[in-house]
Amino acid sequence: MIVLDKVDKVFPGTTIPAVNQVSFQVDEGNICVFVGPSGCGKTTILRMINRLVEPSGGDIYIKGKKVSDKGVNPDELRREIGYVIQQIGLMPHRTVEQNVSLVPYLLKWPEDKIKPRVKYLLEMVGLDPEEVSRKYPYQLSGGMMQRVGVARALAADPPIMLMDEPFGAVDPIVRGRLQEEFLRLQKEMKKTICFVTHDINEAIKMGDHIVIMNEGKLVQHGTPMEILSEPADGFVKDLVGTDREIKLLELTKSKEIVKRTDDIPSEVWEKDSFILAIDPVQRALETMMKKDTNIVGVRDETETIGTISWNDIKKLINKISGDQ
Ligand SMILES: Nc1ncnc2c1ncn2[C@@H]1O[C@H](COP(=O)(O)OP(=O)(O)OP(=O)(O)O)[C@@H](O)[C@H]1O
Ligand SMILES: [Mg+2]
Repeated sequence: MIVLDKVDKVFPGTTIPAVNQVSFQVDEGNICVFVGPSGCGKTTILRMINRLVEPSGGDIYIKGKKVSDKGVNPDELRREIGYVIQQIGLMPHRTVEQNVSLVPYLLKWPEDKIKPRVKYLLEMVGLDPEEVSRKYPYQLSGGMMQRVGVARALAADPPIMLMDEPFGAVDPIVRGRLQEEFLRLQKEMKKTICFVTHDINEAIKMGDHIVIMNEGKLVQHGTPMEILSEPADGFVKDLVGTDREIKLLELTKSKEIVKRTDDIPSEVWEKDSFILAIDPVQRALETMMKKDTNIVGVRDETETIGTISWNDIKKLINKISGDQ
């Protein structure tokens, strides 16, 4: 869906590339998260995708079309791509309603289509349209502003979203809630999303795919599981942290390591120690501790499908700790 092929960016007056030979692909309907320290080139990559910044070298394709082609009109391109900018960037002298309706307005949607769209979007991001539509950005909390920023980027229903630290300006609790709400929305929307953060935990939670950057270069890309279980080098290892075993337990679904069997030990029935197939392996561990046992049963929506033992969990952890 989005392809970068050996993309470079050297800003005028500088010698060190802000982005250096970066290649990757974002599949349709996926969230690709870019993570890395400040100044590593994350924002520059997003801005090259919608041509707010022109690459110095390499090619960028969207749906097979080279977007850096002379024939492509950058303004039209940008209207097809929702963009949540790093500093939220709401227009301070416009109301929430005017901010959210900006792109549909530019696209000359009829008035009677715009108003219901704004109402729908505000509700979708968890705001009360009655309460906030006529307010100005300064009258909102940081979390509310970020929701408005997301609603604005979604306004014209673009197939692609670029989101630059969209939940950066709020405390961890609100951030967690926004992340979950957004993932729930994404299940229905299935947008192709490039999402920037410098928080590896956010990357692991939000990403179908993670691209790790350092000093303009792509250091590693892969699924959260691949990044956690096989960090490419010391930089990635430090970035994912010393608690990657715990993250792996949170990330791995029980159904991925369940031993499928009809033969559920009587102890599991007696102690009623069951978890769901969609629960993280972490839940299996918690249940073992709570019920003072070393085996749990696993159920899907309709039936019992197998067991997870303490040994199965140990194997999962050993898989990644072996190389430390
Ligand atoms: N317009 C510009 N002119 C010159 N240098 C720039 C320009 N924009 C960005 N840079 C430089 O390019 C590098 C990458 O910047 P970028 O904004 O992409 O980083 P980032 O990964 O988004 O960082 P942060 O996490 O702090 O937002 C930095 O060294 C920055 O100083
Ligand atoms: Mg940035």
